[in-house]
Amino acid sequence: MKAIISTKAGSPDVLELREIPIPIPKDNEILVKVHCASVTAGDAALRRFNRAVLSVVGLLAGFKPMIIPGVEFSGVIEATGMRVKSFQPGDEVRGTTTGLSKGANAEYVCVPETSRHGVLIRKSPHVTHREAAAATVGPMTAVQLLKKAGLKPGEMTLVYGASGSVGSAALHIAAHYGGAVDGVCSGTNIELVQSLGAEIVYDYKTVDFISSGKKYDVIFDAVGKLKKTDALKALKEKGRFVSVKSMTKEVKEELEFIQDLQVKGKLKPFIDKSYPLEEVKDAHILVDSGRKRGNIVISISGE
Ligand SMILES: NC(=O)c1ccc[n+]([C@@H]2O[C@H](COP(=O)([O-])OP(=O)(O)OC[C@H]3O[C@@H](n4cnc5c(N)ncnc54)[C@H](OP(=O)(O)O)[C@@H]3O)[C@@H](O)[C@H]2O)c1
Repeated sequence: MKAIISTKAGSPDVLELREIPIPIPKDNEILVKVHCASVTAGDAALRRFNRAVLSVVGLLAGFKPMIIPGVEFSGVIEATGMRVKSFQPGDEVRGTTTGLSKGANAEYVCVPETSRHGVLIRKSPHVTHREAAAATVGPMTAVQLLKKAGLKPGEMTLVYGASGSVGSAALHIAAHYGGAVDGVCSGTNIELVQSLGAEIVYDYKTVDFISSGKKYDVIFDAVGKLKKTDALKALKEKGRFVSVKSMTKEVKEELEFIQDLQVKGKLKPFIDKSYPLEEVKDAHILVDSGRKRGNIVISISGE
């Protein structure tokens, strides 16, 4: 099979397209033919991270440095190990390879039926593989942090960094849990953020949203670039600030909830660009630029 291989840390040049054997699932594993995967800010950060440090941290936390990148995927089960109970060949599935060394920027990926760090669920026939791969870690992060903020119906949210993967998902999820949502992004993305449902959109390069005087119940920093001291100035008395800098973990039930929102048309991942497997390096270059909009899908088989 074709796969992207990266054996050392560094620039996108460390990513190589190679032909390697299709993996054989262990007893507790599922072999998935990957239809769509993605490239995220997390993939790019893992690519850059010092491998020796990752190996040590991984030993403690129970994960391995990635040899094949690609955390998010959607595809069809090709084969299952002897002990797999809940899935069978032909099932459409979506999930993540978090904690595994071999990810989904490949024609096939092996994932455990239940995993310590990653998630795996059946894909709804009402969600395409592209939309499934694009709405995974970003929305799961947004769901978890908005739950942590205790966002309630009718409450106002400001999403700072609303044009990225987490931010664009947070616009839809905050609208679902709460009331009106405003956004902050650069001028080039104002139309996009409005089209995703934000009422007022501030261009952080020309407008200081704090000086607008508007107060929010929740401010969600989706890019980790807003100072808490600044956020506090724009919060109501009982307002809450949450940031992607907080630790989150992947929860299967939350991916089911996200899929349900997708089926109901309440969450539509914004997919800015798609690349074939051969061009994963270009996708990483775009992520490294810091200007990625929404999500990048890697189209591997079919869609
Ligand atoms: N806690 C977790 O578990 C978790 C999970 C996922 C991601 N993350 C982290 O969350 C962050 C965002 O992830 P992502 O996947 O959403 O990233 P992303 O999609 O790569 O974010 C790119 C977006 O960030 C915006 N941006 C860049 N600088 C900005 C600034 N100074 N102010 C406002 N917006 C700015 C850009 O918009 P403009 O061009 O308009 O500036 C661009 O659209 C990353 O640091 C990632 O590692 C954390």
